[in-house]
Amino acid sequence: MANSPAIRLGINVDHVATLRNARGGDRPDPVRAALAAIEAGADGITAHLREDRRHIRDADMARLKAEISKPLNFEMAATAEMQRIALATKPHAVCLVPERREELTTEGGLDVVGQHNALAPFIAKLNDAGIRVSLFISADERQIETAAKLRAPVIEIHTGAWCDAVVDGHREKADAEWRRIVAGVALAKSAGLEVHAGHGLDYATAETIAALPEIVELNIGYFMIGEALFVGIAETARAMRAAMERGRAALRARTA
Ligand code: PXP
Repeated sequence: MANSPAIRLGINVDHVATLRNARGGDRPDPVRAALAAIEAGADGITAHLREDRRHIRDADMARLKAEISKPLNFEMAATAEMQRIALATKPHAVCLVPERREELTTEGGLDVVGQHNALAPFIAKLNDAGIRVSLFISADERQIETAAKLRAPVIEIHTGAWCDAVVDGHREKADAEWRRIVAGVALAKSAGLEVHAGHGLDYATAETIAALPEIVELNIGYFMIGEALFVGIAETARAMRAAMERGRAALRARTA
């Protein structure tokens, strides 16, 4: 129905590469994980080529582009080096993220307000190459409004703070973060942006957020790769899809 468009699942295979790199060889192979995830129902594959190459390597990105049959979402910092690699790789999408060498993971959203002048030509060049640009930002009104002005067609809302609060049982913080997400996705949609979400999601939080009609894609990695150790990547992908469908079914029930 019109109120609940299909929701896509993008699986992030970075941490298959983390495990591989622990021994420096070729196994486990993130491309094999990507192919298995697609076989089990993933709608796309996400990989983050970090400046320090701590997990995904340049060759992984090239192989993903060559070997997978679903869209590749290339996460990267807005640097000249990454732009050059993205333009050569020609992924379906680029998701621009902030990056600090010392962080364990992408800790906050991209500051598109502060970096507006540098980002405008950077995004334009990717747009001109036919690559769909997504901006990974927090659900903040000014960031969302600026993202719309930057002519990136997509934003991905950073769900990390909300997910952490849910998992840690910080009810008030979780509720406040959730309200921020709900308001943010509504604003983004009304500004004409396509809205994705990701970071820290598990089955429960993916189910909850899939009930927001504005969100048409979730990108999920760390939790799923951890679960895959116990039940396999295919079963994990199926279970995540099922969780997301439960969220969409709740939305349909609410809006019927
Ligand atoms: N989306 C973006 C933009 C990210 O940077 C990440 C982490 O690499 C994810 C989604 C996936 O987050 P997680 O691995 O916590 O599921």
